[in-house]
Order: sequence, then structure tokens, then C-alpha cells
Amino acid sequence: MKGVILAGGLGTRLYPLTKITNKHLLPVYSKPMITYPVECLVRAGIDDILIVTGGNHPGDFLRLLGNGKEYGVKNISYAYQEGEGGIADALALAENHATCGPVCVVLGDNLLEKTIRVAVDEYRKQDKGARILLKEVEDPKRFGVPMLEGNRVTKIIEKPEDPPSSFAVTGIYMYDTQVFDFIKTLNPSQRGELEITDVNNLYINQGTMTWSLIDGWWTDAGTFDSLLKASNLVAHGGANNI
Ligand code: G1P
Repeated sequence: MKGVILAGGLGTRLYPLTKITNKHLLPVYSKPMITYPVECLVRAGIDDILIVTGGNHPGDFLRLLGNGKEYGVKNISYAYQEGEGGIADALALAENHATCGPVCVVLGDNLLEKTIRVAVDEYRKQDKGARILLKEVEDPKRFGVPMLEGNRVTKIIEKPEDPPSSFAVTGIYMYDTQVFDFIKTLNPSQRGELEITDVNNLYINQGTMTWSLIDGWWTDAGTFDSLLKASNLVAHGGANNI
């Protein structure tokens, strides 16, 4: 399975920090943010990774990650997303990278305490479809939120006013190559982006979506509060521990 890290966008929620660099290069405790999703994939056994970036500082990713060796990456590639088309639009750029196999996608601002290896191994046993990772959170309104019926996710609602559960759909997704056909059918949302939640709902409607719960802490780092929280979590508990 190949890895894809999505690290584009303008990071407007972190302005003016993101006026002078890409959000995913900002420090989280002792390391640039993008380092954590790279390590997360490598520890799950995924060492062929595409970094999709955008905005004004793409060269700095190459300067930081280089050929990936320092991080245990065997093959690193880079792609550039024009404009602000959203997560699914950025993922579309991975179509050539993925060619004939499934992908594990991690949003460049997502950090975890523990390895995702078990969920990745479970997904490897699935012969088709997708898998999402869920985590119970205090503020589900900020995220994609799953509607759960017993053990089944029946729908995901993006940033709901009235969350149907207390879980967030985290920014770690596993997809078969059908994902690229699904993305081609999407229309931009109200915020003008192709939403990953719309992709996930297509898999749910098809009956091929599975999910795992994340063990240990998980956070995004795309707002001032979550960036501070991420730094504190890493400082006190580490990240990507086996
Ligand atoms: C994105 C997704 C959302 C998901 C979140 C996880 O939100 O749209 O469904 O829960 O990442 O970090 P965004 O950060 O674009 O607001």
C-alpha cells in the first residue's frame, strides 16, 4: 500500500503564521508538523509516500524531507496542488502514484500517539472499499461526524450544527483505486471545496466502508488551540509510539 500525505491549502485559520510558511511546516513541539504523518505511515509499514503540497512554500518540503531516507521512507514523491480545491481535489493528484493499489491517506495536520498498524493490517485484508478511523472528541462540530447504527456508519456529516454522535472522522483514510472515479463525480461544497466527506459517503452508500477506533490520543493541528494542544501532547506523551 502506498501513502499519501495531503499538505496543501492556505491554512487561513492560522493566519498570520501561515503568511510566512505552509501550515504543515509549523513547529509541533520539537519538529515540523509534516514529520509526524510521515513517521506515522513509516511505522505502519508504508514507506512509498507522495506528499501533495500547494501554496507559496513548496520548495521547503523538499528542503526538509529531501529523498526521505532520514525518515525511513524508501520512495518519496511530491505533487503540487494549484489553488484551494479541498482535500479530495488534492487527493486526485495521487492517481498516477496509486496506479494499481490501495492508498493510505493522512492529512498533514493530523497527529497520533500510537501506531495505526493494526487498522492498516485490517484494511489489507479487505479486498475492496475504504476504511476510516474514528475518535471520540469533545468538540465534534469541528469535524466530519459519523451517524452510527450499531456497528455501521450510515452517513458522515461535515461540521454538523447538531452532531449525531460524539466521534470525529479523523484525517486518516484508506481507499481502493475507485476513489479516483468517485472524486471525478464530486461537486464543490458551500466552502468551494471538493469534500473528503462526500467521497466517504459514496463508499458508505456502496456498502464498502469499514472503520476502526483510534487507540491513544489523536488531534489535528489546524487552529491555534489545536496546534497548542498538539505540541503539549507530543511534549508529554510522544507521538507514533508503537
Ligand atoms: C477535515 C475534514 C473533516 C475531518 C478533519 C480531520 O476538516 O473535512 O471531515 O474530520 O479534516 O482533521 P478540515 O481540517 O478541512 O476543516
